[in-house]
Amino acid sequence: MNTSLRRLAPSILAADFANLGNQVTIAAQAGADRIHIDVMDGHFVPNLSMGEPIIKSLRPVTKLPLEVHLMVTDPDLFLEEFAAAGADSFIVHYEGNKNLHRTLQKAKSLGKKIGVALNPATPASALEAILSELDLVLVMTVNPGFGNQHFLPFTLTKITQVERLLQEQNHSAEIEVDGGIDATTILLAQRAGATVFVAGTFIFQNPRGILQAMDALQKSSSVLTS
Ligand code: DX5
Ligand code: ZN
Repeated sequence: MNTSLRRLAPSILAADFANLGNQVTIAAQAGADRIHIDVMDGHFVPNLSMGEPIIKSLRPVTKLPLEVHLMVTDPDLFLEEFAAAGADSFIVHYEGNKNLHRTLQKAKSLGKKIGVALNPATPASALEAILSELDLVLVMTVNPGFGNQHFLPFTLTKITQVERLLQEQNHSAEIEVDGGIDATTILLAQRAGATVFVAGTFIFQNPRGILQAMDALQKSSSVLTS
């Protein structure tokens, strides 16, 4: 069992874009720790989402860190522009990046935190060589590209494997999960070792509203202290 705090990262992919500022403000009031922004280019994943204008528009709306999840073929092309728009951290994918270490260095040179995401089919061991460079590991609990998909239970083992690798290397990084997180799966992922929880549909399309949804996530997971 790890000893980190539980962090909630609402994903705006599921938000009402005509009312985005308001929805982010409500999520912040409900105790969000950061805002998760999913950038998709229609190549790395079969979907398009958002880019720099959204980051720029949200920056004055919230003091919360803006975490940008880059599901794009060449993340290096966007780091500078997104950093200037107000991004606080980047998550790039392991898959398809031929020069991942260079990408990490570039993000760090911009003074930003950096995480690497692993798709469901990618093993934890893929990160062994660069783990010590990371602030965060994102274990995708669905295949990237779309919100409102079912949580894949086989990814739980990988969360624990990442936790073990971090311990072996005596390195502390956050372990985040993304995809299909609701009041039930948050607890499964937390028990496996995750400390940061991205949730889109459950928060922004919850029939009981954003506040109640955040409350349900907070109540069903626990805040762990050392
Ligand atoms: C999926 C995105 C997720 C997505 C999660 O590719 O990375 O951040 O918004 O959405 P839900 O919580 O609806 O599964
Ligand atoms: Zn995401």
